[in-house]
Amino acid sequence: MNKKIAVIKGDGIGPEIVTEAEKVLNKIGEKYGHTFEYTDVLMGGCALDATGVPLPQETIDVCLASDSVLLGAVGGPKWDTLPGNLRPEAGLLGIRGALKLFANIRPAKLIPALASACPLKEEITKNGLDLVIVRELIGGAYFGKRETYTDENGVKHASDSMAYADYEIDRICRVAFDMARKRGSKLHSIDKANVLDSSRLWREVSHKVAKDYPDVEFQDMLVDNAAMQLVRNPAQFDVMVTENLFGDILSDEASMITGSLGMIPSASLGETSLGLYEPIHGSAPDIAGQNKANPIATILSIAMMLR
Ligand code: IPM
Ligand code: MG
Repeated sequence: MNKKIAVIKGDGIGPEIVTEAEKVLNKIGEKYGHTFEYTDVLMGGCALDATGVPLPQETIDVCLASDSVLLGAVGGPKWDTLPGNLRPEAGLLGIRGALKLFANIRPAKLIPALASACPLKEEITKNGLDLVIVRELIGGAYFGKRETYTDENGVKHASDSMAYADYEIDRICRVAFDMARKRGSKLHSIDKANVLDSSRLWREVSHKVAKDYPDVEFQDMLVDNAAMQLVRNPAQFDVMVTENLFGDILSDEASMITGSLGMIPSASLGETSLGLYEPIHGSAPDIAGQNKANPIATILSIAMMLR
């Protein structure tokens, strides 16, 4: 096959880890007779420095014209004080939105060779950890209306709204149920339905979708409980589906159980075959340029891309 890959190396350790992943991809190409054509595009802090915006239109255009997008990481202290819409992270959210990548798949697996790096007691991880977090990626608090203002009394206010439409919940739940069917046929839907309206809608819609998957064992769990259960008995989970913010937090927690934040890859998918593949970790500016960042999560991300 011959595939076009848009490459966003980004900031911090991004360029180093992506370069390692490209080496692996090239080797695979050589060995199995595939060609991968890379086009480097800018996003994040490096794009800000070069063009004044974190996500240039050209980057979106090149990504849309590619078969896949490979991404390192964005962000760094240099750009931390910029307003929200100009931060490197806005570029990342922007590209996920522009490509309509609503489903973020984050597999976490504890491999035996790394068991000693897992901070949990052996009695907790003796049954292993092998789960997938299906995170909704273009809705919720990260994409809702935000506001910062000072009122007439000089009091400063800020808000972010966590909004979901039923169809957004429906489509991500279907991705998760399909995933569960291919694995252990067990799905936990994580929400905060005892407090949040958006979670109550989540619960209503997920239960409706569950009717189409009677073969999958389905259970709700409140997010605070889920955070606790992950470190109490991680082996109980197979697939977890959750909204954007909860998925962001729980996937970092799950990654630590694998021994390192540098171990979890991800695939961001939408309705077409165009996907974006990136490690779940950030740009780690403190270790950038020292050739010690772990590239495994990026290499595993290209494994997901090839699949
Ligand atoms: C992630 C990251 C991003 C997110 C940041 C960098 C915007 O934490 O991919 O998990 O929150 O989605
Ligand atoms: Mg995160």
